[in-house]
Amino acid sequence: MKSSLLKNYSRYPVEFVEGKGSKLFDKNGEEYLDFLSGIAVTGFGHQHEEITKAANIQLKKLWHVSNLFEATPQEELATKLTTSTGMDSVFFCNSGTEANEAAIKFARKWGGNRKTIIAANGGFHGRTMGSLSATGQSNLWNGFSPMLPGFTFVDFNNLKEVKKSIDENTCAIMVEPIQGESGVIVPDNNYLTELRSICDENNLLLILDEVQTGIGRTGKLFAHQYYNIVPDILTSAKGLANGLPLGATICSKKVSDIINPGDHGSTFGGNPVAVAAANKVIDLLTDSQLELIRANGTLIKELISDIVTPLIKTVRGKGFMIGIEFNKPIAKALAKTLLNEGVVVGNSGESVLRLLPPYIISKHDIHYFVKIFTSLLIKVSFSSGSSDIVNIN
Ligand SMILES: Cc1ncc(COP(=O)(O)O)c(C=O)c1O
Repeated sequence: MKSSLLKNYSRYPVEFVEGKGSKLFDKNGEEYLDFLSGIAVTGFGHQHEEITKAANIQLKKLWHVSNLFEATPQEELATKLTTSTGMDSVFFCNSGTEANEAAIKFARKWGGNRKTIIAANGGFHGRTMGSLSATGQSNLWNGFSPMLPGFTFVDFNNLKEVKKSIDENTCAIMVEPIQGESGVIVPDNNYLTELRSICDENNLLLILDEVQTGIGRTGKLFAHQYYNIVPDILTSAKGLANGLPLGATICSKKVSDIINPGDHGSTFGGNPVAVAAANKVIDLLTDSQLELIRANGTLIKELISDIVTPLIKTVRGKGFMIGIEFNKPIAKALAKTLLNEGVVVGNSGESVLRLLPPYIISKHDIHYFVKIFTSLLIKVSFSSGSSDIVNIN
């Protein structure tokens, strides 16, 4: 039958109809281990008891009234986000790209006559026109030009280029602490601290896109907290409400001070049900939970690094944001084969496999994943070429 869905996604021929914890079930009742979390979204797994309960209570009370009225749960969530980051105020929206749209607008207003934002090659900030224009992957612009003017691109992790690119029109620098969509690219340890200093020295805003790295994914509430810095604008979404749509643009005082009623808005932003779930998500991200993500993330990386195979080039990432780079373009085929074996993972392009497991994953499931992955790599090592991995089964 002809699909009535727009052809903008290429979908795997599997339909999940239920999830429980770190397990997914397809429409034939087959069980899968979820090592993708809906691309870094369902950090606390599926049907988490406390999050589901919080959302359910709100679902039965009130769904929507708009942002024309006071909203105590939004206030509570905003306070949790500002106190845990040392920032000042929060704008709620529904997705990562919207959080970044707001960041771009706020930076331009703050900059006055200075409108240019320095962003990074390989960065990903979303699919709407502003965020797409800040996305340093020109292949994603094809067919959609002209892009929004006012973005300058430099190589990620290259401080010299950043310094060279600053001119009288620059108002901000915008990067991800770890580039996710580009293949889990972790910059040098001094990168973010140096960017903070460069921004301070040149009176620029530091915008950190933590849509993917935030909400515990790397083993800190936000990844920049590894480096003891505070950004001027911080964007969040994905894991914030464990799968319900919610985005946040978190602002420092100097940015909050220049935003007035009417400057920005969203009909659905800060939806009560999503906010109820998010309030619970933040409460669940205790120090011990974050510690567990760091420890289990290290365990996964060590177990994978121990696999004896010429196929793996590097294993990198922080916490539960892990990239495995191969020497051959086999990542996509491996992801497909793993799916056939009942394990859900992601890939970035042809050479990086992405692991984004849920925080609640058990040690048993970690070892199970490594076992399946190892036996697959052994089969691939002995097969004739990379292109036929899917045929191994
Ligand atoms: C770093 C980053 N920013 C922004 C986005 C866009 O988020 P959304 O798809 O919710 O618009 C993504 C999505 O992958 C992302 O990884």
